[in-house]
Amino acid sequence: ITAEKAGFDHFMLKEIYEQPKAYRDTMGSRIDPTGKKVVMNELKMTNEYIKSIQQVHIVACGTAYHAGMVGKSIIEKLARIPVETDVASEYRYRSPIITPNTLVVVVSQSGETADTLAALREAKRCGARVVAVTNVVGSSVAREADDVIVTWAGPEIAVASTKAYTSQLIAFYLFGLYLAQTLGTQDEAYIADVVAELKQLPEKVEQILEHAEVIKECAEQIATHNNLFFIGRGIDYAVVLEGSLKLKEISYIHSEAYPSGELKHGTLALIEEGIPVIALATQPDLFEKTVSNIKEVKARGAYVFGIHTTGETELGKAVDQMLEIPQTIPLLSPALSVIPLQLLAYYASLARGNDVDKPRNLAKSVTVE
Ligand code: AGP
Repeated sequence: ITAEKAGFDHFMLKEIYEQPKAYRDTMGSRIDPTGKKVVMNELKMTNEYIKSIQQVHIVACGTAYHAGMVGKSIIEKLARIPVETDVASEYRYRSPIITPNTLVVVVSQSGETADTLAALREAKRCGARVVAVTNVVGSSVAREADDVIVTWAGPEIAVASTKAYTSQLIAFYLFGLYLAQTLGTQDEAYIADVVAELKQLPEKVEQILEHAEVIKECAEQIATHNNLFFIGRGIDYAVVLEGSLKLKEISYIHSEAYPSGELKHGTLALIEEGIPVIALATQPDLFEKTVSNIKEVKARGAYVFGIHTTGETELGKAVDQMLEIPQTIPLLSPALSVIPLQLLAYYASLARGNDVDKPRNLAKSVTVE
């Protein structure tokens, strides 16, 4: 077992450190040798079909659902197609409006999650085309979908998903770019810029991992608390939802993730002296607003850990502790900003003496509805 962990104390830590490789493998041959566009030979859907798509539904559970929330921003921004996201266990029961022009994207690391499989079958029954984003070739979801985009993260053993989630993000970037190329919704130069930035991500993840010690210290402070908040706006909100789930899953610390601007509509009442707030602020167009939301919680006594992109100096003045992540195109930032949140959950769980890889009450693959 120790050998399987390749010298790491836990599978989760090993899997966190495998992310640069998972990014590279998932991009692999899907980036054209010119480096300017994406090729997705595995897709059987025709260009004619892509042009007929009127809406996209992204359906998944847990962490895969959080990847889907980022996927919504990616597809809407790049391909300009309206996207809805649904938790798989809810999808069938809300009688969703599915037409033959609805593309349903199911996301499942294992490809065996019963709720996701049931949602896939419902989508097919209603005549939709289904694309599966999965880490397991030949899984049930992969077999039943019309198209499959495999994430090449390699086997994920820890119950808390890390490299599968980030590989799902990479799959969404590739698919979003592919749709944009086909639909002509973005010019070639912009697509080439995004592709070039995508290729830089693995190295930038390595840079973040080199500073794991700093995150460990934050985690040890957080581990002494029983409640905390995560805040973020726009795409950062989708990422803090994932950070909050990760922390709950393995540290058993109660946390909630909120869109930063929403606190004042109720949650601010829970902010009291010393409560930790983790604020993600990677989006330049939302930065000022986020800083003012941070000031709101600071004024009520919160202790704020801020995560922002290198070069933004303003945040430093507003927070108690700050962590920088490398710069990238704002749309790509989730593939970087989630890394410190994964490490935070890992080290908080460790500080509390929990079983990191096998948290209580949870299973790696949930095959009951
Ligand atoms: C992630 O840390 C969780 N263990 C869980 O939310 C998981 O992502 C969810 O159960 C979906 O699993 P799947 O990707 O295998 O379908």
